[in-house]
Amino acid sequence: MSEAQLKQVVFPVAGLGSRFLPVTKSIPKEMLPIIDKPLIQFAVEEAIQAGAEEIIFVTSHTKTAIEDYFSKNSELETRLRDSNKSELIQTIYPDYLKNIKFSFVRQNEPNGLGHAILQAKNLITEDFFGIVLADDLILSDVGCLKQLKDIHSKTNSSVLGVFSASDSELKNYGVIDATQENDILKLNSIIEKPSINEAPSNLAVFGRYILSKSIFNILEETKPGLNGEIQLTDAIRSSLSNDSVFAFEFQGRRFDCGSKEGYVSAIVDRASHLENFREIVKK
Ligand code: UTP
Repeated sequence: MSEAQLKQVVFPVAGLGSRFLPVTKSIPKEMLPIIDKPLIQFAVEEAIQAGAEEIIFVTSHTKTAIEDYFSKNSELETRLRDSNKSELIQTIYPDYLKNIKFSFVRQNEPNGLGHAILQAKNLITEDFFGIVLADDLILSDVGCLKQLKDIHSKTNSSVLGVFSASDSELKNYGVIDATQENDILKLNSIIEKPSINEAPSNLAVFGRYILSKSIFNILEETKPGLNGEIQLTDAIRSSLSNDSVFAFEFQGRRFDCGSKEGYVSAIVDRASHLENFREIVKK
């Protein structure tokens, strides 16, 4: 098995974050902290662990905080150095960011995830690229995107991360119909936010994808679907007539931090794994 490359990863961060208003009026949902580290940093670290060299943010005009967060802040670094707090410099601009290229492209209106991805079309030069939705936080020993990349290495095809959803959760996700082939699932179909009667399985797609760049031509032809938005799920379903797409049930703990319940669970989980906070969580 030759190790595939995953050099470019797209982060769509142009959604409204309406479930988190009022805070998301001026702070991007992806900047919400899990104690001291924002969701977007967990996601960027996961992409780098999978081999990403270029991080492409699809942003809106309200998301400049993300751009600032990944920029060098020389003034702050100097002040930390002058006040004998040099050890904090690694936390504000870790070494692993130094060789990463950050690119930004605007989505002028939140017309759906498919539309957000389409905005990155002209920046993608590789045959396959990753997508990470940072509000889906995955805590795992091997990063979730790296796990998907290993399946991509075996199949040289698109791969979707899936999890086993409860019946009541299915209406919130893209749900797949798939056939097991050895330890990998091969997609037959996918449906966005099905009712419990329509759902072909309990395997739901969450915020990790590796897709062929051929998805862009399909997205350009994809008509607005559910909620009048251009749905990535619809484009993936269309791609199945020409290409194989695989799915993989990842190993790790997943928190849907787009919801308040998932966000609070993520903070409690991280705190309970950190020495300083364990006692507080117990209490
Ligand atoms: P969500 O539907 O979870 O995000 O989209 P949202 O719209 O920001 O949140 P709510 O539902 O209003 O609370 C999943 C991901 O896709 C991005 C979001 O930023 C999020 O990371 N997205 C969604 C876009 O970039 N553009 C869109 O038009 C829609």
